[in-house]
Amino acid sequence: MDSALTVLILAAGLGTRMKSRKAKVLHRAGGKTLIEHVVDAACELANPESIYIVVGHQAEIVESLLRPRGVRFVRQIEQKGTGHAVLCCEPAAKRRQGRVLILYGDCPLLGAGTLRRLIDLHVESGAAATAITTMLENPTGYGRIVRNQEGQVLAVVEEKAASAEQKQIREINAGIYCFDTALLWKHLHDIRPHNPAREYYLTDLVGILNAAGHRVLPLPAVDFTELLGINNRIELAEVDRILRERKVRQLMLDGVTIERPDTVTIDAQVAIGPDTVIEPFARILGDTVIGSDARIGAYSIIESSRLEDAVEVLPFSIVATSHVESGARIGPYARLRMENHVEAGALIGNFVELKKTRLGKGAKAQHLAYLGDSTIGENVNVGAGAITCNYDGQTKHKTRIGAGAFIGSNATLVAPIEIGEGSYVGAGSVITDPVPADALALGRGRQVVKEGWARRRRRQADQNSAARKVPVGS
Ligand code: UD1
Ligand code: CA
Repeated sequence: MDSALTVLILAAGLGTRMKSRKAKVLHRAGGKTLIEHVVDAACELANPESIYIVVGHQAEIVESLLRPRGVRFVRQIEQKGTGHAVLCCEPAAKRRQGRVLILYGDCPLLGAGTLRRLIDLHVESGAAATAITTMLENPTGYGRIVRNQEGQVLAVVEEKAASAEQKQIREINAGIYCFDTALLWKHLHDIRPHNPAREYYLTDLVGILNAAGHRVLPLPAVDFTELLGINNRIELAEVDRILRERKVRQLMLDGVTIERPDTVTIDAQVAIGPDTVIEPFARILGDTVIGSDARIGAYSIIESSRLEDAVEVLPFSIVATSHVESGARIGPYARLRMENHVEAGALIGNFVELKKTRLGKGAKAQHLAYLGDSTIGENVNVGAGAITCNYDGQTKHKTRIGAGAFIGSNATLVAPIEIGEGSYVGAGSVITDPVPADALALGRGRQVVKEGWARRRRRQADQNSAARKVPVGS
């Protein structure tokens, strides 16, 4: 941590080109908001209390999102440009010594390593400011870098203010700078909104520092993808793709098999153990943790869940906010809706839904069941089509099934209800009263058999149709 470093992150703009009611920095890429990516990189360099986020559009939402990280906030009520945004930080940050790193909140691919190199150049060169630059095939929209013969930066010219000749420059300003603290606050007030947009451009400070006899040095970036800023949803999708690709490559290097990695979506915070296999089109989201030797089937969605070693999720299944112990098997076409706990070796088959349910060790629910608000003991067998009626229209009620019980197919368990250990519930039963341990419970109409009924019915039908066929007049 660099104790002489202050970081300012500009994140107050709406981002008009996003065509969104949501502030730009709150859009997500790679499973995190844009601003979280930038703040996380900054936190690798500086203590959170020396990081200031300039907020404006949807300030409350941005603040509540980032407050747990311990960073500070500065409000920019009216967005009058990047120079004005920095000016808003003056009362809070002016007393601080050393250097100021300025980042834009819409630049989420930036790594702490690149920032560290910028700071190193700043310290070693003793320049008034350093800025990251890069060459772009198509520099349209970016500020252009005007250099002198010594290679120093004389000015940054914004697209809107650039001459036809300046627009030919392919070296652009990435929007990442390191300033000498004293010189920043001394000259920031000299910026004037003399441009077609009537904005205070932070980039004008480069020309101002030069005019005052100071040096501004460029740090040409090695990897320009790191510098991509997001201005519209096409760029958002591109950055999301890059973040996803980075994530799957890292997981593969760490020993995870990923089939067709370009089809898989894995959020930044996800952790997966070695020898786990991820099949095509899987989505693994939130802070999910998956152990080793597990398998996530094609088209499955795993969200904010913990799956232990050797868990198998077969294709087209959904697991959300649940904990699945080792060796359990889920799917295909199963849904663990929320807050479930599936114990080791349990089997959950096709079209089975679990909600707030604990399924005991080795228990099975293999076909077409709904188990809600339930605690189900070890080795229970839940037959095809069995359901818990956990909701009476007003309140949710609990179902308890003791270890080793057998719930017949299509049983309807009306909660609150308790089914004792080792008991049997007959197929098709509607169970409203508690079932003691080791009992058999039947709750259905008795079967009636009428011998010869079908034959008599067919004969009657034949006679009726013969009568209708008698010719008219006979
Ligand atoms: C800016 C740079 C440009 C550079 C480009 C790199 C300026 C004047 N131009 O242009 O040289 O090539 O970034 O991506 O700095 N913001 C505020 N308050 C404001 C205005 C902006 O907080 O009043 C924030 C925005 O929320 C955003 C960031 O500053 O996160 C950059 O603003 P944006 O409007 O995207 O700047 P660009 O036009 O892209
Ligand atoms: Ca931008």
